[in-house]
Amino acid sequence: QVFFKPISNTHQPSQTNHKTKISVIGVGNVGMAIAQTILTQDLHAAAFLPRTKIVASVNYSVTSGSDLCIVTAGARQNPGESRLNLLQRNLAMYKGIVPELVKYSPQCILLIVSNPVDVLTYVVWKLSGFPANRVIGSGTNLDSSRFRFLIADHLDVNAQDVQAYIVGEHGDSSVALWSSISVGGIPLLSFLERQQIAIEKETLENIHKKVVQSAYEVINLKGYTSWAIGYSVASLAYSIIRDQRKIHPVSVLAKDFYGIDGDDVFLSLPAQLGRSGVLGVTNVHLTDEEIQQLKYSANTILDVQNQLGI
Ligand code: LAC
Repeated sequence: QVFFKPISNTHQPSQTNHKTKISVIGVGNVGMAIAQTILTQDLHAAAFLPRTKIVASVNYSVTSGSDLCIVTAGARQNPGESRLNLLQRNLAMYKGIVPELVKYSPQCILLIVSNPVDVLTYVVWKLSGFPANRVIGSGTNLDSSRFRFLIADHLDVNAQDVQAYIVGEHGDSSVALWSSISVGGIPLLSFLERQQIAIEKETLENIHKKVVQSAYEVINLKGYTSWAIGYSVASLAYSIIRDQRKIHPVSVLAKDFYGIDGDDVFLSLPAQLGRSGVLGVTNVHLTDEEIQQLKYSANTILDVQNQLGI
């Protein structure tokens, strides 16, 4: 009672540990943006940063007892380089990282960010031995926010009122789910008819192409992307740690969904996230064309993944 003198007639509950521990592995531009965004995303509810203890080390023991481990370590794309090209460099690094994280936090949720995120999430699932609900890739959560922004900009509405998913590979073969997009609760295609906004299929395809190209453009200009993925991953961390049961398009074990059979593959589907990780995949209706595109995306990932021999 050096600092505080208890007031009379009170009952202080026994101290229970409500601490939350998040470890970010990799403190490059992406890791720093994620850490900064996680720290400040409560800022609107606090005059100052929430009370947080920050520890940095090259020794994995500091991650001990983490609730959530976010892995951003790895090589990044060079200008013009695809995400899939990074696999061999990042695979070697992950073989060193994953056993350490499992050793110190055997009950944590693993959130994978490094690219190619879908294949690396599969690799982490295999190396960790964790159940699939506790191994999540950031996937197309970022692509979907870019997609919503571009649709909102095109229709002159607020992006918060646009619900739209990009699924499949976080990369060149991603799939825009045009048939399930809604604006203010109104299905997009009927919204366009009501607003008498003519919009050709080509315009829609160009919006998706802009989503696929956006990271390449930023990398050409700045050398890397960081803040967009930082905000995207911080939103995933929030949904998981605060048990928000919110739906995010993230990379999950997609086998047996939408006719994706055969080998185990991780790719993005709209999934409900909470404190135990993936609570379930939502049953969004896909058109036959969208299902074919999703299967193509799965095979694109598997073509690379099957070379690993894992
Ligand atoms: C991007 C990186 C995270 O899309 O792949 O910005």
